[in-house]
Amino acid sequence: MLLQNETIRAHLTSPVALHLYDSIDSTNNEAKRQALTDGAHLYASTHQTAGRGRRGHDFYSPKDTGLYMTLSLPVDRVEADIQKLTCIAAVAVCEAITSLSPGKPLIKWVNDVYIDGKKVAGILTELLTDEHNRPTAAIVGIGLNLTTAHFPEAFAKTAGAIGDIEPNTLCAAIVNRLVALSRRKDNSFIEIYKALNFCLGRTVTYVKDGVTHSAKAVDIADDGGLVVEENSVCTTLNSGEISITPQR
Ligand code: BTN
Repeated sequence: MLLQNETIRAHLTSPVALHLYDSIDSTNNEAKRQALTDGAHLYASTHQTAGRGRRGHDFYSPKDTGLYMTLSLPVDRVEADIQKLTCIAAVAVCEAITSLSPGKPLIKWVNDVYIDGKKVAGILTELLTDEHNRPTAAIVGIGLNLTTAHFPEAFAKTAGAIGDIEPNTLCAAIVNRLVALSRRKDNSFIEIYKALNFCLGRTVTYVKDGVTHSAKAVDIADDGGLVVEENSVCTTLNSGEISITPQR
C-alpha cells in the first residue's frame, strides 16, 4: 500500500501541504514537531511505530493495512468551534467512507467510528499552542483500519476493518470533508453527527468522579456533549469514555 503525492493532490479540493511517510512514530507527533501554522498540512503514513490514542492509550498501527493521518489546521482558518473538531472529524470520516465503499459507518460518542459493531477508526485531536498557551493550530489525528485482519488480544473482539478502500482517495476525501466542515460557522454538522450516532436510546455506562453510572443516552447537546438520563435526571457528558450495554 503506497501513499502517493500526485494521487492525493489530484483529489484535494483546497490547498493542503502534503507530508507522506512509509513509516513514522506518530503523524500527530510529527505535526507537533513541525508546528507549521502557515496553512493546512497533512501528515500521512501507512505505518506508525508509536501511534497514540485517547487517554494515553496506544493506537495499533501495523504496516500497510491501515491509514494513519493528521490534518493540522491553523486556528485562524477554522470557523467552527475548535472544541468540536473531534465530532466534525467523525462526521468527515463517516461521509468519506460512505462515499467510497458499501460500508455503513456509525459513530460511538465521542470519536469512534464503527462498522457492523466493530471499531474501525479513531480520532485524537490535540492543540498546538504558542508561548502564551494560546492555540495556534488544531492537530486532528485519524487512524483507520483498512484491511487489518489481526489485532492484539486486548481489542481483538472490538476492533474491525473498513475494507479494501484505495488509501489515497480515502485520505483526500476525509481531508476535503473535514476542511469544508471546519469552515462552517454554523452548528449544522451536529444534526449529522447526531443522526450517525448509534448511542442514542441505548443504555450506557460511564465512570464519573470514581462512581460507575448506568444511564440512557438520550441526546447530543449543541456542543457535542452526550445527554444521559439516570433516574429521570439528565446530565451532559463532555468528556470521558462510555460503554454501551449490549441489547438483549
Ligand atoms: C483513539 O481511538 O483513541 C484515537 C486514535 C487516533 C489514532 C490516530 S492515527 C494518526 C494519528 N497519530 C497518532 O499517533 N494518533 C492519531
